[in-house]
This record gives sequence, C-alpha cells and structure tokens, in this order.
Amino acid sequence: MLNPDANSSDKVCAALKMPRHVAIIMDGNGRWAQQRNKLRTFGHKAGVEAVRSSVTFARKKGIKSLTLFAFSSENWQRPKQEVGVLMDLFHFVLKSEVKKLHKNNIRLKVIGDLSGFDVKLQEKISAAEALTANNDALVLNIAANYGGRWDIVNAAKCLASSVASGDIGLDDITEAAFDKHISTHEFPELDLLIRTGGDHRVSNFLLWQCAYAEFYFTETLWPDFNESVFQTAIDDFAQRQRRFGLTGEQIMTAEVEPKAC
Ligand code: IPE
Ligand code: IPE
Ligand code: MG
Repeated sequence: MLNPDANSSDKVCAALKMPRHVAIIMDGNGRWAQQRNKLRTFGHKAGVEAVRSSVTFARKKGIKSLTLFAFSSENWQRPKQEVGVLMDLFHFVLKSEVKKLHKNNIRLKVIGDLSGFDVKLQEKISAAEALTANNDALVLNIAANYGGRWDIVNAAKCLASSVASGDIGLDDITEAAFDKHISTHEFPELDLLIRTGGDHRVSNFLLWQCAYAEFYFTETLWPDFNESVFQTAIDDFAQRQRRFGLTGEQIMTAEVEPKAC
C-alpha cells in the first residue's frame, strides 16, 4: 500500500516494486583472476568495469541510492601488495570517474572510517563529494574502510557524548535517534542487498540497515556482474512479499500499512 505522504518518485518505486536503495557486496575479484591464472589484483582492476555498468544501470532504472562495498575494515589484513593496489585503484578511479558522475547528475558519497586513508586520498574524496553534492539523479555510496560494527559503535558514541554533555537524556535514545547517526541516514531504507561471488554472508556490511532488507545471492563473480545479472536481482526482488512482521493476509488486503516503501 502506498503511503499518501510519499513523494511521486517513492510512489513510482512502490508501484513498480523497484528498490529505492540497493547495496552490493562486490565479491569474487580474486577468484575471477585466479581462474585466469592472473594475480588477484587483476580481478580488482577488472571489477571497475562492473562498477561502471552497475552505476549506469541503477541510474537508468531510477534507483535512488546504490551502496557499493569496496573495502572492509577487515580488508587491511590482506597482503600488503594487494592493499597497495586497491589504494592505487581508489586514487585512479576518483581521478578518472568523478567528472563523468557529475555530468550524469550523480552524487558521490563515501562512507566508512576515512581517517584510515592517506591524506591525499581523503582530500580527493572530499573534493569529489563537494563537486557532486547537489546532484540528485542517484547517490553512489562507496563503503570504504567500512564495517557495520564500526557504524553502530560510531552512532553509539555520538549519542553517549550527547547524554554525557546533558544535551539529551537517556530516554531520548530511540531507534529513530540512533538511526540519525548511522552513516546512511540521509538515504532511503535499504531494500535490497546483493552479494556476488557465491558466499552467503554479510561480512560486516550494513548490519543496522539490513534489518528488513531483502537478500539476493549470486554465484556470478564481481567482474562478470552486468546489467543482465542486476536485472535478474531486481526481478527477483519484485516477486517477493515484504511483510515487516505482518501477516501475508494483512499485506494483501492492505488492512495495515507496512513500515517501508
Ligand atoms: C572483493 O573481491 C573485493 C574486495 C574485498 C576488495 P575479493 O578480493 O574478496 O575476491 P575473492 O572473494 O577472494 O574471490
Ligand atoms: C567483503 O568481501 C568485502 C568487500 C566486498 C569489500 P570479503 O571477501 O572481504 O569477505 P569475506 O572475507 O569473504 O567474508
Ligand atoms: Mg572475497
């Protein structure tokens, strides 16, 4: 059932059963390269093209937010050479892609603990975010040095500090207040989480945001991900009945309004 207060793009999303916010765990680069007897880093480089095509697809389909897991807080533990190549790739992609994103009215946002990156990279991220800040066709959210537990702890720290300073009381800590301090708070609720590479786990991605997200797992390795695989995930999503704790009958008769979209 449509929320009468929803804006027109929300209404179109709900009617078409299109997700407004999609997140992707872009996994399988290393195995893709190894299958070709290449270094794992060859797979990371090949994955850039899959990022481009998923961004183009998301924009074309009217998805409002696309959150891509690029580097987890745990990925620092990988071999130094692989981490180095991934950092170089971030620098390269920021340089080569930002103008195109801007031209296509796409806003770039990076979520995660950015203090872990070198200062030059932090500066490039800030500049790209500033340049694209007013674009509204799609928000491309890159999760880098991101961990779902970090996100939750960060929100808890912000609220704890407000309680300690007396700005808010303990009873002001509600789910809604907590959510305001989560890194994706300005974007729609997460509707669909896709993981490529065949594993069925969240690997410390959007833990708070996954509460009522739909999950879609595919064997496709990230560098092979394309518009057709993305479309299959969207079609699968459209077939699902999201109940948000209600019964199927309540949803069918629209007796009670479900929580999201
Ligand atoms: C995902 O691909 C990319 C990053 C984690 C940066 P992987 O590098 O994890 O590829 P597999 O899972 O080892 O194949
Ligand atoms: C998750 O993939 C992180 C990214 C895709 C950036 P990993 O390959 O690091 O996850 P695990 O280690 O298989 O859980
Ligand atoms: Mg992996």
